[in-house]
This record gives sequence, structure tokens and C-alpha cells, in this order.
Amino acid sequence: MHLSREEEQAYQGDLGDTLRRAMEILVALGDIYGADRLIPVASVQVAGVSFKTIGEAGLEWISDLRGKVVVPTVLNPAGMDLRRWQDMKIDEKFANKQLEIVDAYSSLGISPDCTCTPYQIRPDAVRRGDHLAWSESSAVSFANSVIGAKTNREGGPSALAAALVGKTPRYGYHLEENRVPTHKISVETDLESSDYGVLGYIVGREVGEGVPRFSFRRRPQVDELKALGAAMAASGSVALYYFEEDAPQAQKGAEEISVSAKDIQQVREENAPDEEVDIVALGCPHCSPKELEDIARLLEGKRVEREFWICTARGVAERCPNLVKKIEASGAKVFCDTCMVVSPASDRHQKMMVNSGKALAYIPGLCKIKAAYGSTEDCVKAATRRD
Ligand code: F3S
Repeated sequence: MHLSREEEQAYQGDLGDTLRRAMEILVALGDIYGADRLIPVASVQVAGVSFKTIGEAGLEWISDLRGKVVVPTVLNPAGMDLRRWQDMKIDEKFANKQLEIVDAYSSLGISPDCTCTPYQIRPDAVRRGDHLAWSESSAVSFANSVIGAKTNREGGPSALAAALVGKTPRYGYHLEENRVPTHKISVETDLESSDYGVLGYIVGREVGEGVPRFSFRRRPQVDELKALGAAMAASGSVALYYFEEDAPQAQKGAEEISVSAKDIQQVREENAPDEEVDIVALGCPHCSPKELEDIARLLEGKRVEREFWICTARGVAERCPNLVKKIEASGAKVFCDTCMVVSPASDRHQKMMVNSGKALAYIPGLCKIKAAYGSTEDCVKAATRRD
């Protein structure tokens, strides 16, 4: 990979040990994937924040770094609400380690916003065509597919390296030739909002790392696209999809897949909730203001009868204090900075009901508990039902 004079100096360690380590990561990645050079990134989102996933070794690695990030950088969800961790029944030892991790990132100049939906807290910060280095798979999918920015799915260390250098190797989804649709998906039914997570769950399993091009009967809304992309990134590894009529045409010989109402119904039936559900959790990916509004409306005049979490970004919760108040008046808890998948608080339950195809795919493996699926309305019903 070609390096400019300044990049070469950083690589040789002339600009300090942290930049040398960051450059080593970027150069190694670039060489593996055949990048020709580094390109500037407009922003970075760093995964590897929950103490549950990175442990002591990760904390030590981050604490060892010095210097400051040179582009706007945010974090992925942590293992707990950074302020209300006691309400999540997180033990103190875990909490201290988690706070240390966020402090270590903050001392590098990273904003302590811990969210998989950075585009919901600063909607204007990312523009079509921007190159990014984001990590979390649903955020990557949203950036590539809905915003029209360009990012690979970075690992924690490579995202951090990109934040410190302000650049990323030019390969993968940064190149137009890798952004051509590989699969044509025709959706042969009208979809309700809660079907998009199921659709993503089905299509992700079929296309793996492919680039699906959808044809829908109606244009999906933003939160529906967020749910679709998140589910495809979890049941498969889809980082880019198309949904608009004027999207690029699929490559020659692209596989065609059709999804019917029956396919969607089958996934719903296989994952229907039962009496084992002892927790309901919404907000995977983190809830938008519109989703908080829907939940608040559905909860009006109701009382929660089992554990009910709503996960969102702190920036969103702070923008919607009245909605948070209304939701919590029912006994539900709005948690920020964290989510049901990366928090150890989920692990002590037996079965979690979700409205997210991504959470449905991840919860059994990452939390070692069972998962059930339903619409937001079904989830509210389950959380407020008396047995
Ligand atoms: Fe976000 Fe956690 Fe889901 S990081 S996409 S809420 S698994």
C-alpha cells in the first residue's frame, strides 16, 4: 500500500508510539485486502466497548494508548446504562470496569455517546458519499444503504486506529465495484412495520455477505430500513443493500429470491412468545424519537407486569424527556448507553421477547437465553399482561 511521507513517518514511529501502533493496524489491513492507499474518513464509530465483550485484555489495550482522535468519534453501546447501572442490577465490579473503559476512550478524545445509531443523535453529521470507519453492523448497514456513505465493517482496533490517524485503507465498500447488487429480492406481500425485522432475518440467512437489491410494494420508512438492515447484518453479514427504484442494477446472473407472506408468517410462528417470557426489550437498534413516541402511546394508561426495557441513545432520550417520562410512568425502564445484547443484565433471564430480527438472531448465542419475536404492539401487550 502506498503511504504518503507523513503516513510513513507515523508508521516508523517518528510521531509517537500510539500512532505507530495505529498505522501498523491500518497497513496490515490494507495489505491483506489489497488497498492501494489510505483515504480520509469523516467519522468513526468504535465497537468493543462492553466489558462483557472485551474483558480485561481489551481494557488494558485501550488504557495503554495515548494521544487524541482527529475525527468525530463515538462509541458502540456499553454493558450498562452509565448512570443507572444499579437499576439494571449490574454488579459493582463490572460497573467499575465498564466506567474505566469509557473513561479510557474519553481520554483519547472520543465522545462517550454509546450508541449503534449515531445518525439519530447527529443526523447531519454524515452525508451521502462520505467515507467512514464504523464498526457496529447495523450502523454500517444504515450508513451504506440509507445514508449512501461508504464504510467497511471495522473491528474495534481498526476503527480506533482510523480515528487516531483520520484515515482508513481504501478497499471493500469504499470501492464502487464492490457496491454492485449481487441478489434480487422481490417482496411479494404488503409489509407491516414489524415485518421488516423478519424479512431481514430471512434474507440475511439467504444472501450471507451479498448485496441485496429489494423491490418493495411501497417505499419503507426510515425505522423500517433500520430494522431490515440490522437483521440482515446479524443473520447474515450484509453491510449494504438497496431499496430504491433507481438503485444500481444487479450484476449479471444475480440470484433471485422471493419472499412471501407465508415465509414471514413461518418465522413469526416459530418464534412466537409463550409463558416462559420473563423480560421484554425494545430498541435494537436503539430507538428513534418516533419509536419512543409509538411505545409511549401504546403504554398509555397501562402498568408493566414484567421486566420491560427500552434501549436508546442518551442523546435521543435527552431530546425527548416527556416521552421517557410517559414510558417510565408505566413501570418500563428507558436505558441509555447500552442494549439487551451487550449487557450482562440480560443473562439472568430465561426468555426475552423482542421486536428486532437482529436481537432475535443474537440473543440465544450472546446472552445464552431464549428469544421470542413480536411486533412492538405485541411486546407491549406481553409486558403489561397479568399472568
Ligand atoms: Fe444496537 Fe445492541 Fe442491537 S448494539 S443493533 S441494540 S445488538
